[in-house]
Amino acid sequence: MTERLTVELTELPEPGDFEPGIRRAPDRGCTLTRREIKIALANALRYVPTNHHATVAPEFLEELRTRGRIYGYRYRPHGRLTGRPIDSYTGRITEAKAMQVMIENNLDFDVALYPYELVTYGESGQVCQNWMQYLLIKRYLEIMDDTQTLVVSSGHPLGLFPSRPEAPRAIITNGLMVGMFDTPEDFHRLAALGCVNYGQMTAGGWMYIGPQGIVHGTYITLLNAGRLYLGVPEDGNLAGHTFITSGLGGMSGAQPKALEISGGAGIVAEVDASRIETRHSQGWVSKVTDDLETSVRWMLDAAAAGEALSIAYHGNIVDLLEYLDTEDIAVDLYSDQTSCHVPYDGGYCPAGVSFDAMRDLLTTDREGLKTLVDASLARHYRVLKRLTDKGAHFWDYGNAFLRAVYDAGVPEITANGVDPSEGFVWPSYVEDIMGPMCFDYGYGPFRWVCLSGESEDLHATDRAAMACIDPTRRGQDRDNWQWIHDAETNALVVGTQARILYADAEGRTEIARRFNRMVRDGEIGPVMMGRDHHDTGGTDSPYRETANIYDGSSTVADMSHQCWAGNAARGMTMAVLSNGGGVGTGKAVNGGFGLVLDGSERVDRILDSALEWDAMGGVARRAWARNENAIETVDGWNRANADRGHVTVPRVADDALLEDLLD
Ligand SMILES: NC(=O)c1ccc[n+]([C@@H]2O[C@H](COP(=O)([O-])OP(=O)(O)OC[C@H]3O[C@@H](n4cnc5c(N)ncnc54)[C@H](O)[C@@H]3O)[C@@H](O)[C@H]2O)c1
Repeated sequence: MTERLTVELTELPEPGDFEPGIRRAPDRGCTLTRREIKIALANALRYVPTNHHATVAPEFLEELRTRGRIYGYRYRPHGRLTGRPIDSYTGRITEAKAMQVMIENNLDFDVALYPYELVTYGESGQVCQNWMQYLLIKRYLEIMDDTQTLVVSSGHPLGLFPSRPEAPRAIITNGLMVGMFDTPEDFHRLAALGCVNYGQMTAGGWMYIGPQGIVHGTYITLLNAGRLYLGVPEDGNLAGHTFITSGLGGMSGAQPKALEISGGAGIVAEVDASRIETRHSQGWVSKVTDDLETSVRWMLDAAAAGEALSIAYHGNIVDLLEYLDTEDIAVDLYSDQTSCHVPYDGGYCPAGVSFDAMRDLLTTDREGLKTLVDASLARHYRVLKRLTDKGAHFWDYGNAFLRAVYDAGVPEITANGVDPSEGFVWPSYVEDIMGPMCFDYGYGPFRWVCLSGESEDLHATDRAAMACIDPTRRGQDRDNWQWIHDAETNALVVGTQARILYADAEGRTEIARRFNRMVRDGEIGPVMMGRDHHDTGGTDSPYRETANIYDGSSTVADMSHQCWAGNAARGMTMAVLSNGGGVGTGKAVNGGFGLVLDGSERVDRILDSALEWDAMGGVARRAWARNENAIETVDGWNRANADRGHVTVPRVADDALLEDLLD
């Protein structure tokens, strides 16, 4: 490149309007001191030419005071952003155009939770912190070539650095904080200052594919919960069984769809009418009512007839649970997906308070709201305890519900009645289901986006992926084969032409190789391949992904860092590492990747080691933690790959020997 790179925002765009009906993030609450507000303003003004500071600074101050953050709304492109076909983007290389597709899909009105505030999902998971960053990232992507790498720190594009074609095109981190300061309070202050971004998992990693991303995992969880707790046969489904949960948001909105795919009947409580409307109009939930009795009758009738049915109850989950308890109505399975990773920031609506009133309290009386949330979580715990004592099963669905109840002042929710060091009275779904049945074998949420935007490409990849799965190999393969077989019929696409499919290391590699060949042969356009961070190796999260690690290391974050470094070293297009995904700041470190399949032999070479590392690194750590299924998987890998590598296998101590010794 010969011309001098000048990537800056010289223009002063006209402020745009906010389209009615598009959800807006709540005021996050500005608690900064005068000195800090000055720093926050100076920080945001770094993106703006000095001749515009007098115009823009008062707007930034207003945003900080009324929204708790500086989003730089003026810099948002007007109208709707959407992940368009890759050829319609400006750029010198396919990878850079592919990243633009992914970013804009993450900000699409149909996909994103609060698109104006750059929030993709999970109440607070953002693509980047503000619209100036968005514009700069886009400009860098428009000019970058394959000798450069874009470095993004919490949404801030630090720059385009010289690298080489085999290196990643983007290295992205979100909100990684120094241990002692890694607390939600510090994070809140730093976010207002413009120093950190909460990336959730795939929001700040630019790999969100709409609620479909979570439907497959939810379907697997529900089916396996049926097998584990209700004795559903291996080849059976949830017909005749009932399930109650909450949340119809970004991720939680997958629950009713997954429930119907798995054949069960159930109710999802949701306090926000607009989210019910979204999921209902998308066909992700079948019936809607705000009447408790009606919702329960519909559910019981459907279950009695063996029919699959999902119902949205417009109201608080606590009211629904207390009704079932008072009326003594038996339900088989319970869970919860309110945004308990941020219960005091609008993620959990207390019983007795409407959604709108809760949002008002966020602005007018945060302390008062906290008191109400704590009281409601305690009530929530007590009613669930009564229901599970009567025989129902409850699991924490990765939203830090158990931890939030404990933090609300209810130590009885812990296994030892004092603190969470020995776990909780109910399992997390990873402890009982996803960990032993999927992650320990290397099965995880592999996904892809057909960048041409053509539905035919998606159908072709669905068929190709199905041909790579042997449904007789393992129960998991049968479930995954069924999933991909039915995927088109289940109409799962929201936003770009994307698909999720759980697969293990071998399966992922085989499918990706086949797709790359199809791109090379001109059968399909380029494909962005990646995964959710909610996987076997990418995430250290003691209340979730690593909840079934029992060797004491579940709070150690080596695995996610090694996974990320290994992915970068092997040349994934994007390598991402973030703080807190799913469960909240300081409670997890998670990493993900994106790899553009452009049909080249260079990508074949990356595929030869990268997907295998990405999954097997996690299985290796799980095996070292003495997880039986992971040891079995590692043994198999060691045998099959004796000439390529070796994973260290643990010697398992005899429990009786240790007990005797200690007695
Ligand atoms: N299980 C998983 O694999 C997984 C994956 C991603 C995220 N999560 C976690 O699940 C949670 C939900 O994620 P999301 O993306 O759907 O978030 P979200 O904020 O978009 O949705 C949560 C929904 O819960 C509703 N809600 C809050 N309190 C309620 C109450 N008391 N009664 C009824 N409804 C209530 C909210 O109105 C909102 O629509 C988050 O904590 C997230 O981190 C879990």
